Amino acid sequence: MSLPHLYVARTLTPSVMGELTDLGLPLIVGEEAPPARERLLADVAGASAAIVTLTERVDAEFLDAAGPALKVVANVAVGYDNIDLAAAAARGVVVCNTPGVLDEATADHTFAMLLAITRRVVEADRFARTGRPWIWGPNMLVGLDISAGATLGIVGFGRIGRAVARRAQAFGMRVTTSDPGLRIGASVNGVEVIEADTLLETSEVVSLHVPLLPSTRHLIDAAALSRMKPGSYLVNAARGGVVDETALIDALRSGHLAGAALDTFEGEPAINPELTTLENIVLQPHIASAGDRTRDNMCRLAVRNVTRVLAGEPAETPVPLP
Ligand code: DGY
Repeated sequence: MSLPHLYVARTLTPSVMGELTDLGLPLIVGEEAPPARERLLADVAGASAAIVTLTERVDAEFLDAAGPALKVVANVAVGYDNIDLAAAAARGVVVCNTPGVLDEATADHTFAMLLAITRRVVEADRFARTGRPWIWGPNMLVGLDISAGATLGIVGFGRIGRAVARRAQAFGMRVTTSDPGLRIGASVNGVEVIEADTLLETSEVVSLHVPLLPSTRHLIDAAALSRMKPGSYLVNAARGGVVDETALIDALRSGHLAGAALDTFEGEPAINPELTTLENIVLQPHIASAGDRTRDNMCRLAVRNVTRVLAGEPAETPVPLP
């Protein structure tokens, strides 16, 4: 087994890459693209710490390949559905994520997607590039006036959901939320907490901000979609698995939903080819947190978590283990 090293599965942002060498630890650093599984398992062998991203599956096989020197796995993401927490807990490995530092960037992009789908920005861009003759007209590419008091229903009212709410309120939207941690009828920062079904039935736009858990997989299934208002929109910058894509495609094809904007996909990085044939959808390759400072801050927080745990201190942002 090699000497304990810090294993970094993917190339981090340039400034953080520059700082890695200052840590004084032996390093094995992967490339821009995710490592093949065999490479990943070989390179993590003997590591004392691993910095991974959501593209690396951290399970019993990974942890056993790393071996007993492994103290900490730091995910460069707030979501950690790629990590088997029970397997980490069983081996005494600390798991960390990057909460907080990406809230505003993710909310910005969520709102960009919301505007893009409701005001048909991407569809209009595609149209303008066709070279087809056109002239301004009262009925041309008309979309939803979100500022005329349209209701945004936010599913999951954590930090990112709240940051999206602030933007929506500034745009004149009425905002409601459903969140199992909040009392129905409460008002949080001017946002009314309502039942999930009521939210689906009363929102012009539904935006998802829940982690992917067994309880949230396919939370938005055919039944949930059928509850949504005819002509409403769905925005998902959470995890692809929260939405049943087959049911969503049906709802978009039938016209029950006016549109959807997705940043994440069930089979990511594969995108269901049927989604790409629809006009009334905006597709983004999982970039909601891709702000320049935000990505630096995510990488830097992952590095801080590693250095703290290796120094025998508590991690800054540990994930609670079962
Ligand atoms: C996360 O952090 O979980 C995002 O999906 C990637 O930034």
